[in-house]
Amino acid sequence: MTSWLRTFGSVTLCLLLCCLVVAEASSAGDSVCWSPSISSCTECLRRGPQCAWCFKEDFLDGAGPSQRCDLPVKLLRRGCGPEFMEQSEIKVEVNATVSSTQVSPRDISITLRPGSEASVIVAVKQLERYPVDLYYLVDVSASMQENLDHLKTVGVALSLRMTEHSSDLWLGFGSFVDKPVSPYINVHPSKINNPCSDYEIRCRPAHGFHHVLSMTGNMSEFTRVIKRQRISGNMDTPEGGLDAMLQAAVCQRSVGWRPEAKRLLLLMTDQPSHLALDSRLAGIVTPHDGLCHLENNVYTGSTRMDHPSVGQLSDKLLENHMYSIFAVEKQQYQWYEELVRLLPGSYLGKLGLFQAPNLIELVVDAYKRLLSEVAVSVSVEDKAVSRYWVSVSPLCPNGSTAKDQSCSGVQPDQTVNTQAVSKHTQD
Ligand SMILES: *[C@@H]1O[C@H](CO)[C@@H](O)[C@H](O)[C@H]1NC(C)=O
Ligand SMILES: *[C@@H]1O[C@H](CO)[C@@H](O)[C@H](O)[C@H]1NC(C)=O
Ligand SMILES: *[C@@H]1O[C@H](CO)[C@@H](O)[C@H](O)[C@H]1NC(C)=O
Repeated sequence: MTSWLRTFGSVTLCLLLCCLVVAEASSAGDSVCWSPSISSCTECLRRGPQCAWCFKEDFLDGAGPSQRCDLPVKLLRRGCGPEFMEQSEIKVEVNATVSSTQVSPRDISITLRPGSEASVIVAVKQLERYPVDLYYLVDVSASMQENLDHLKTVGVALSLRMTEHSSDLWLGFGSFVDKPVSPYINVHPSKINNPCSDYEIRCRPAHGFHHVLSMTGNMSEFTRVIKRQRISGNMDTPEGGLDAMLQAAVCQRSVGWRPEAKRLLLLMTDQPSHLALDSRLAGIVTPHDGLCHLENNVYTGSTRMDHPSVGQLSDKLLENHMYSIFAVEKQQYQWYEELVRLLPGSYLGKLGLFQAPNLIELVVDAYKRLLSEVAVSVSVEDKAVSRYWVSVSPLCPNGSTAKDQSCSGVQPDQTVNTQAVSKHTQD
């Protein structure tokens, strides 16, 4: 039985815990360990961490297998040497070949028997400067025209400003509007290709999500791509932001997220977002499958699947080590305030105008805030998840042991020690 303990912190850390159950052959014992039904070592050891199994061949001269299971002292008294005893064993091994500057140790393997537990200390250290990937996910519905214009000047300036905090900044870009089906868009033939024809402007068809620019450190390339973007149009007020966020998070290869970078997903919109179940209006009832559906950089699941639920999106962001930043206009602040509470590792910024200086401040503030929070969380990936119980308690630099499992206000170069206790519970 192998279980992986994965921890997410301000540092992406992966710590491996392997819990093995030792198994073998058969016999009898005492009040705690003994039971007439025991016929194998596995069954014996399962009775508790104090039980031992004697595998000496001629033990008790052919007595029943249940006689082989007992407390070690009793087995010894009846002539079974310690070298013939299989007993509860707890082993904690640190794999020193896997080094990490942020989390140590990084790879730990723990052998546990049912009922036993082990505790390890993991130290998480903030680095001064990380590489940063920032993906702009921009609502390109008609009302966003001006905001899109402002974005053209952001790239270079932001990259200069971030040199204080980051070793290198890469930017990416994607756009979204809404599900391109009625009633979210006007399906009149003249409007499908140019939803803005009433205003005598030429704009592009509505789309669920287009991935436009993969992560790049070339800021002139970013500016060039933004200049080419055109707005689109749709009918209803809310947009498909959450649908697009999920694709941007899970389509790792297309977006080109760097494994070692801090990943920021910035959603820019002036409207609320559709939620799961909203697309029933369009007859779309299939829940989102949480997977990437990009073909030639176009999201193809938009009209087949519902918007993801907030919980599903939250899981995917955590799984892909992503921080989300919401840049929304003042009027929508309240709506997103509620949402951000449900998404761990997210930050909400109120923008009067989406002008370059405002956006840059927002990103820098969010980055500093999100990185000063160290949270270690654990997920056990094992078929027998319910057999493992893991608790995590950090000791914050200010001396408090955080009950909510996170420390805030952690400065670069400070270390947060976290105790992780894992226990193999009885089945
Ligand atoms: C330690 O980690 C390395 C790299 O992941 C792996 O190849 C090696 O097998 C591990 N060693 C042990 C004892 O688990
Ligand atoms: C950066 O992008 C610009 C514009 O697309 C291109 O002309 C230039 O060659 C790129 N620079 C590098 C180093 O790739
Ligand atoms: C220490 O930090 C924790 C978590 O960030 C916070 O909840 C607590 O109030 C702080 N305690 C002191 C004494 O500053």
